[in-house]
Amino acid sequence: MSSEAALEQIRRAADIVEVISSVVPLKKLGAYFRAPCPFHKDSNPSFTVNPTTQTFYCFGCQEGGDVFSFYMKYHNLGFPETVRELAAKFGVSLSRDWGARSRDPKEDALKERLYELNEQAAAYYHRTLLHPERGGKALEYLKRRGIDTEIIRKFRLGYAPAGWTNLINFFRGKRVSVKDCETAGLVIPGKNGSHYDRFRDRIIFPIMDTRHRVMGLGGRVLDQSLPKYLNSPETPIYHKGRVLYGLHTGLDEGRRAGKTLLVEGYMDLLALYAHGVGNVLASLGTALTRDQVRLMKRTGGAVVVAFDSDEAGRKAAFKAAPLLLEEGVASYAVQFASGEDPDDYVRREGGDAVRTLLDEAPPLVDFCLDWILRKPVRTASDKESALTEAAPLVRAIPSEIVRLEAVRKLSSALHLDEGIVSRTVQSSSKASLKELPKGLVHDVTVRMEEHLLGFLLRNPGFIPTFIKDECVAEFESEHIKSLAVSLFEIFEDSGTSDTAVLFSRCSEPRMQSFIARLLTEEHPEEAENAEKIALDFSRTYRRRRLRRREERLTQRIQEAEQTNNIDLLRSLLREQQELVSLRTQTI
Ligand code: UTP
Ligand code: MN
Repeated sequence: MSSEAALEQIRRAADIVEVISSVVPLKKLGAYFRAPCPFHKDSNPSFTVNPTTQTFYCFGCQEGGDVFSFYMKYHNLGFPETVRELAAKFGVSLSRDWGARSRDPKEDALKERLYELNEQAAAYYHRTLLHPERGGKALEYLKRRGIDTEIIRKFRLGYAPAGWTNLINFFRGKRVSVKDCETAGLVIPGKNGSHYDRFRDRIIFPIMDTRHRVMGLGGRVLDQSLPKYLNSPETPIYHKGRVLYGLHTGLDEGRRAGKTLLVEGYMDLLALYAHGVGNVLASLGTALTRDQVRLMKRTGGAVVVAFDSDEAGRKAAFKAAPLLLEEGVASYAVQFASGEDPDDYVRREGGDAVRTLLDEAPPLVDFCLDWILRKPVRTASDKESALTEAAPLVRAIPSEIVRLEAVRKLSSALHLDEGIVSRTVQSSSKASLKELPKGLVHDVTVRMEEHLLGFLLRNPGFIPTFIKDECVAEFESEHIKSLAVSLFEIFEDSGTSDTAVLFSRCSEPRMQSFIARLLTEEHPEEAENAEKIALDFSRTYRRRRLRRREERLTQRIQEAEQTNNIDLLRSLLREQQELVSLRTQTI
């Protein structure tokens, strides 16, 4: 079966209401289904599913699309995986290498292999930890730190025994090439072509993605020796700047809670989890990257930075702040007693105390400004350095109001004029505020075009009433025009408006969300009045066309007058008369 045909078959089989209601509690209201939106913190039922058009749209956060886009977004999957999973669920058979076409099959095979090796290594270490003799010492260490068996299982913690070749021997028994293990970062080449295990006598933390696949491993010593932690090196499936620890639980819990704690370490996350705080992800001690911020954005909620209360932790929070702000994440910060980390805090105070701390956490901007302003400012150069420190932070604030508030705070603390603070902060480097992607422009004409397109999408029976070249050619918005052209073409090909085909033609997320909105929007009286609405639209468009022709004509008449071209003038004037009478008929 061709992949197009397979997609069609999945689309027909995978009813969007069925797919969504298995994860979101939908309520039927009229012809539509509604629920609080799973993509942003929502207390109203803004999330709407239209069973007729098989689309969803959230009127709060503008996420929208068809069954494929929902599945991709909700489960954080790519398109090929989404197709494979939906196909499996709804019994559509795909060719084995489906989706491999557009990508590099060799690269895919290698990645699959690496996941498999990591999986086996993690399983081996996990068994070793739970082995009564071999894991005893490590198990005791974890118990002492408050990590019980349930957590050990949930996070698949393990123990890499002391010795240089335990894992190598394990894999040798399975006929796995040591070279592959090296690529996976599990073993390290030694002298004379020999190899040894990377992780020795360490607690093992598998770093999993949202689908519980092991991307890499972390290992902690059981004593004071150094380095305290060791992680997998960069491999084709492990990029330390792109992972967060705890993804397989933290994203979902963060989405549910509407906010997610960001901590530094493995043990912080596990200790919080042990005390019932599951909405947490760990950056693993590296400087937070934009990729990591985007991962956290998948929760759709706020981020509460809870780094260690030491110089390194504060620096890390400072560096993370502009990134979080620029990405438009609502960000807060919590502060523990000096020298403490979340692990220390939750073990001393318990889970409820952490939740209170979270609820009362000040905005990250305030946290950073307070820190900058903590020391007394005496000289002008003190003021200057405070402003230099604050500049990247203030510039990154997307809301003008919040930005102004920050400027005010700085100006009053530093006894400086607001204008000066504002100028200094903006100019200390070139303006870096990126324009946030805006929705489609909304002037009157565009809104009108949007209305017509939406009407035709919802009422494809009226498409023949409109002549493609006559109405669409006049559209001013390029987005809407290209969609309308597609719609007409699909109609010409198939005699219907297959929205599924439209979705597959327009793969750009913003376009999909736009189509989804038009399709999902409620238009209570539309069906009964469709005929009249269509007539109104076609009248308006005829009028608009005539007006444009008149404008062009007037111009040509003026030109003909100026050049004294009497013959042309005469014929143009005749044309004008016809136009005027046409227009009076139309109105
Ligand atoms: P910390 O030194 O704060 O460790 O490093 P921790 O999480 O409190 O660990 P415990 O409580 O002593 O067991 C924070 C994180 O930085 C990374 C690890 O991911 C660690 O969890 N790190 C730290 C390393 O990668 N290597 C190191 O040598 C130290
Ligand atoms: Mn710690």
